[in-house]
Amino acid sequence: MQYKISASILTVDFLSLRDELESVYSLVDEIHLDICDGHLVPSLSFGANVVQSIRNAFPTAFLDTHLMIENPHNHWQSFLDAGSNSLIFHYEASLHPLVLRNTIQAHHAQVGIALAPRSNALVLEPLIGFFDRILIMTVNPGFGGQKMIPAMLRKVEQARELLGDEVDIIVDGGINLQRIGEARRAGANVFVVGNALFQNSDRKSFLEDIRAALS
Ligand code: DX5
Ligand code: ZN
Repeated sequence: MQYKISASILTVDFLSLRDELESVYSLVDEIHLDICDGHLVPSLSFGANVVQSIRNAFPTAFLDTHLMIENPHNHWQSFLDAGSNSLIFHYEASLHPLVLRNTIQAHHAQVGIALAPRSNALVLEPLIGFFDRILIMTVNPGFGGQKMIPAMLRKVEQARELLGDEVDIIVDGGINLQRIGEARRAGANVFVVGNALFQNSDRKSFLEDIRAALS
C-alpha cells in the first residue's frame, strides 16, 4: 500500500502562506485544504479564491480539498474550477452522496467522502466501490491543533475491512509522530498533518521522521 503525507494549512499564518507551502510542498504528497463554512462546522476558513491562488503558485501540487460545508451539491464546482485534484465532501452534509459523486467524477476529479466522529463506519456499506478516498475524521471537524480521538481508529479498521486495499483511507486530525504508527496499523494510508508539521521549525527532519515511522 502506498503511504502519503498530506499537509493541512488550516493553522498557518495566512500572510505567510506562500512561504509556508514553499517549505513543505516538495516534501509531501498532497496539500490538504480545509473549507469550513460556519454551519456544518463552527469555524470559517477560506474559499475557492484561495484555492485558485494556491493552484497558480503551485501548478503541480496535488490539492485535496476537504469540504466541511453544508450543501456541497451547490459549491463543489467552484472548488473544482479553482484547481482541486480531489474533492471530499461530508457524509453528514449530503442527502444524495452517490449523485454528487457521479457528478464530480464526470469532471475527472477524484472524489472522497468524509465521516465525522458521530457517523458509524457501516454507513459506508452502500457506498463501497464508488469513492476514490474515504476520510475518517480523527478529531471533531473545524479546528487544527486538536488531540486525536483514539476511538476513531476502530472506525479506520472497520472502514479498511469493508473497503479493501484499493481505496485511500485518510486520517485527519491530531496526527503526529506519536500517533501515526497506530493510524497506519489501523489501516490508514493517507495521513493529514497540520499543526504537528507547521509548528515544527525543521519541517524537513519532521517529515523524514514521519516517513520513518511509516516504514
Ligand atoms: C480539522 C481539519 C484538519 C486539521 C488537521 O477539522 O479537517 O484537516 O486541520 O490539522 P491537525 O493536524 O492540526 O489536527
Ligand atoms: Zn481536513
